[in-house]
Amino acid sequence: MPGSGWAVNSHAIAYVIYILGGLAKTLEEAGRELQGVSQLTMGRKITFTDLVGGPQTVPDLARNEVHVWAARMNLEVPPASWLESALSADERERGARFRFLPDRHRWFFARCWLRYLLGRYCAVDAATIRFEVGAHGKPHAAGLPIHFNVSHSGEAVLMAFSRHSPVGVDIECVRPMQDWAGIAERYFCASEAAALRRWPDAQQLPAFFRGWTQKEAYLKVTGTGLSASLKAVELDLSSADNARIISLGGQTSVAADWELYPMEPFANYPGCLAVKSGPWNIQAWRWSEPSGATIGVSNQ
Ligand SMILES: CC(C)(COP(=O)(O)OP(=O)(O)OC[C@H]1O[C@@H](n2cnc3c(N)ncnc32)[C@H](O)[C@@H]1OP(=O)(O)O)[C@@H](O)C(=O)NCCC(=O)NCCS
Repeated sequence: MPGSGWAVNSHAIAYVIYILGGLAKTLEEAGRELQGVSQLTMGRKITFTDLVGGPQTVPDLARNEVHVWAARMNLEVPPASWLESALSADERERGARFRFLPDRHRWFFARCWLRYLLGRYCAVDAATIRFEVGAHGKPHAAGLPIHFNVSHSGEAVLMAFSRHSPVGVDIECVRPMQDWAGIAERYFCASEAAALRRWPDAQQLPAFFRGWTQKEAYLKVTGTGLSASLKAVELDLSSADNARIISLGGQTSVAADWELYPMEPFANYPGCLAVKSGPWNIQAWRWSEPSGATIGVSNQ
């Protein structure tokens, strides 16, 4: 029947136009959203190469690279004596002030490896490196053309190095914390506390620590540390594998100047690297110390 056929066809055409219209709108919206996301840089989770016995060789650090090193140590034993031999008298004194042996060993271990890696990157004798600190305590190596930052928590030490951008790192051991939700309500942005509540119950504490490391890595890359407000940096805490700054000091326009790269070098140890916006080639290595007394590298 031509009449009804036409009616069917006109309905069909109207339907197709409706669907296409909806599809175009959806694509337009998706495009807008994607544009928005790409403007605000999103850092992907860092993957690590496993090392046995520590860094046997330290690769060159190219200008477009950021190198990340993570070690999990045995806190029962001090670092090997050849590593400690590069420490200054001040450092030995500072390390000796730690009351608890595990804290002392961790600090010595981190400082020894920092000197060792800086010495290798800059082709200088590790013992000759002199550290100075900025207004809020961020250390740098006097006269050496390299940026670095260090973090320690539990059994882990994390370090990052770059020739071209300041770096900030933080690592935290996820541990029971009774009032983490109260801390988030008080010190995080309202949008972040809300994002944490959206995670399933069992995942809220790890998400809190991930968020903490991202905030602290940012505050460490700028050198202010916790003298600046944790609320000054507003993060997207909806993903375990990506990190993104939404606003800084309430301004979205400056958020894209920085990138955050989340990581989990060891189970239950979330961490984060903050760096100026790239493009970066990020390389990361990790190792575990079976015993600090038998680090498997030589000083030659
Ligand atoms: C930086 C800070 C956030 C580190 O906190 P943390 O979680 O306890 O410690 P982490 O293990 O992550 O980091 C410690 C390392 O960060 C580095 N660091 C210290 N101050 C830093 C700063 N302001 N910015 C970036 N890095 C800093 C150091 O290398 C330190 O290691 P070290 O003690 O072996 O030298 C905290 O110490 C802080 O907020 N300091 C600044 C406070 C301040 O303004 N003080 C007043 C003036 S000195």
